[in-house]
Amino acid sequence: MNYIAHSALDMSDPAHYAGVRKPVEQATPLPNWCYNSAEFYALEVERIFKKAWNYVGHASSIPAAGDFFTHEITGMPIVLVHGHDGTIRAFHNACRHRGAPVASGAGNCRHFSCPYHSWTYATDGALFATPLIDEDDNLRHADLGLLPVRLERWHGFLFVTFDDGAMPLMDWLGDLPENCAGYGPETMVCTRRVSWDVAANWKLHFENFNDSLHIPFIHGGTLNRQKVSSRKRSTHEEMRGQCITHFTAHEGSRGLMNGQTGFEPIGTLSGRYLQGTYYPCILPGTMMAWTIDCMWIFELHPTGPASVRVVGASFFPEAATQRNDFDAIAERYYERMDAILPEDNVAVEMQQSGFRTPVQAASKFTHMETLCHAFDNWIVDQVTDTKC
Ligand code: FES
Ligand SMILES: [Fe+2]
Repeated sequence: MNYIAHSALDMSDPAHYAGVRKPVEQATPLPNWCYNSAEFYALEVERIFKKAWNYVGHASSIPAAGDFFTHEITGMPIVLVHGHDGTIRAFHNACRHRGAPVASGAGNCRHFSCPYHSWTYATDGALFATPLIDEDDNLRHADLGLLPVRLERWHGFLFVTFDDGAMPLMDWLGDLPENCAGYGPETMVCTRRVSWDVAANWKLHFENFNDSLHIPFIHGGTLNRQKVSSRKRSTHEEMRGQCITHFTAHEGSRGLMNGQTGFEPIGTLSGRYLQGTYYPCILPGTMMAWTIDCMWIFELHPTGPASVRVVGASFFPEAATQRNDFDAIAERYYERMDAILPEDNVAVEMQQSGFRTPVQAASKFTHMETLCHAFDNWIVDQVTDTKC
């Protein structure tokens, strides 16, 4: 057998992905090196993360003037701030003097003061102080504001893109806003964000979320409330927009462990949405779950070819968050997330380790992994500039 160094391959050549392009019954998954090579990761950064609408957080996390949080999109630092004029903006988190980050972590500020030479910016990005250095024709404060990043929002859900030519966010989301309207997305408040650093490629987590076959096995002691045969109740749904979506029919809230009670169902829900959970995954890395009384997001933030920070963000309707017993009841939902997600982390780390073989062992999708096949095809669309 010939073992070819993947660094020698032209990874944008569609020929590498001919197996992914086949109908799901005959298809093969993406080659191993798509999950661990620095070269392929660099291709994804250029062709996916610099071009996509990337979900970065929720407005309810920065409700007051001066509130901000920092973030990195595949290593590229940004800061989001609720300006003193009431507008939420995103900026590249790099000083216009010589590039140091002007903000770190999250908090509230009157302004951003760069830690290096103290150039100071208002929360609308305007530079207004350069200590020891006077303005002149070659250095005008008005020319040196923080550089903005394009930001659009769907209700409180904040998305940024580095591509000024990208389609409007609402086109990227396609049918999602319409399909989620009954949940009252405008009322959702983010009540907790928790993160895990996972030694696996980001795509494995996306695929895992969309693979209903693993649930009785990986979550045998926790989530396994449905037998394997009945998991066909998950439907693979085609929709407009850059999303991969399924709906799972079940009783009760998917945000709770079996047997627990929680909040009332959302009053504006109707039809099938009262009897299941809607899972629209916004490409590239935002996995949403809308259930009868709450929603959550698993955000995938790649930190390298074989590592990802996974953020679990919990959301409830604002009215629920105002109840006196909110914290006690919400804890049950958090416990469920904290039990399940680490099990998925183990699964994807296990898979990552198998992908270090120099042969292509992974070779099949089953009929319960059609969403993974759709995702792999989307990846190929992006890295090769072709469509299946
Ligand atoms: S790099 Fe920011 S003030 Fe010099
Ligand atoms: Fe899982």
